[in-house]
Amino acid sequence: MTRTVLLTGGAGYIGSHTFVALVEAGYSVVIVDDFSNSKPSVLTRLGRLTGLNKVEAYEGSVLDDAFMERVFNAHEFDAVVHFAAKKAVGESVSYPVDYVETNVGGLTTLLRLMDAHDVRRLVFSSSATVYGDPDIIPIPESAPRSYTSPYAFTKLMSEQILEQAAAADPAWAFGILRYFNPVGAHPSGTIGEDPSDIPNNLMPYIAKVAAGELSHLNVFGDDYDTPDGTGVRDYVHVCDLAMGHVKSLDALMASNLGHTVNLGTGIGSSVFDMLQAYSRACGKTLPHVVTDRRDGDVPVLCAEVDRARELLGFEAKRTLDEMCASSWHWIQTGAKE
Ligand SMILES: NC(=O)c1ccc[n+]([C@@H]2O[C@H](COP(=O)([O-])OP(=O)(O)OC[C@H]3O[C@@H](n4cnc5c(N)ncnc54)[C@H](O)[C@@H]3O)[C@@H](O)[C@H]2O)c1
Repeated sequence: MTRTVLLTGGAGYIGSHTFVALVEAGYSVVIVDDFSNSKPSVLTRLGRLTGLNKVEAYEGSVLDDAFMERVFNAHEFDAVVHFAAKKAVGESVSYPVDYVETNVGGLTTLLRLMDAHDVRRLVFSSSATVYGDPDIIPIPESAPRSYTSPYAFTKLMSEQILEQAAAADPAWAFGILRYFNPVGAHPSGTIGEDPSDIPNNLMPYIAKVAAGELSHLNVFGDDYDTPDGTGVRDYVHVCDLAMGHVKSLDALMASNLGHTVNLGTGIGSSVFDMLQAYSRACGKTLPHVVTDRRDGDVPVLCAEVDRARELLGFEAKRTLDEMCASSWHWIQTGAKE
């Protein structure tokens, strides 16, 4: 029996890759996106990639009750994967209320509709930012939670809302996925990350240096207590991450039991590791300038990955070189279309 899944934010970076993985796994997928941070042309690309004649999609906001009610009335959903959110940490500091409204309000609107339509399974995009500035590396899911930005606050609050809903009504089954640093692109070069502004994240920034759109990479501090002095993060290929959503959904379908897991590789890479890997991918040495540390940056964030393996059978396999090569392929092909 084909299962039907609502994918909010399905035209975005992680959502589009997850769409492909879900279709390949046999799910029927319906997208809702307001295209506030993506382009409708992604839908054509998704059709091309999956071979579907028509990608089922609705343009509108998850905050719009009446619109969402129409979507729920038009389909019999078995589950929801909820990506739609604002995600820029810096912007959230300037517009905290907008972030709460979209990220928390979007979730509660969705939960009310799911409840009314008896859809009980939800996979939720959480983030390693809920660990704040962690004491234990690699970070286990049991580590204390906190936040260092309004964005992280919305993710922490969302997790707590889901936990309280599940405690109040065991019929709910939530897959809370804490992403570490998603990077890379689909190997076909058809979909990828395409920020229109100057990116805040390392790989999209390096990609723009490689493409000649930015002159050099600013390395924010080389005096951290790490092997080469630069910040260390757990980068995970977006296609591995997408597969994590399939595994999470499969687990919710099979057992109706919720889970909270980290999605990362468990391997830390420094800024210089990434710069060198991207240089290998694009075949040129990429210039950098070391500047002061950036407020709020922590030296090392790396996932403990045992729980995802044990509960979901999830393992992120792609290497840093594969992440960079797929990003560069996307920048040179699909992103230019
Ligand atoms: N990319 C990361 O580094 C990262 C890390 C941790 C967690 N996350 C979370 O993963 C999710 C997806 O992230 P992404 O990188 O794919 O972001 P993205 O911005 O590329 O995708 C989000 C999509 O949601 C849509 N959207 C935003 N607000 C909406 C609304 N009110 N109604 C309908 N659609 C709306 C956007 O147009 C976009 O297509 C987000 O919840 C984000 O917070 C991302």
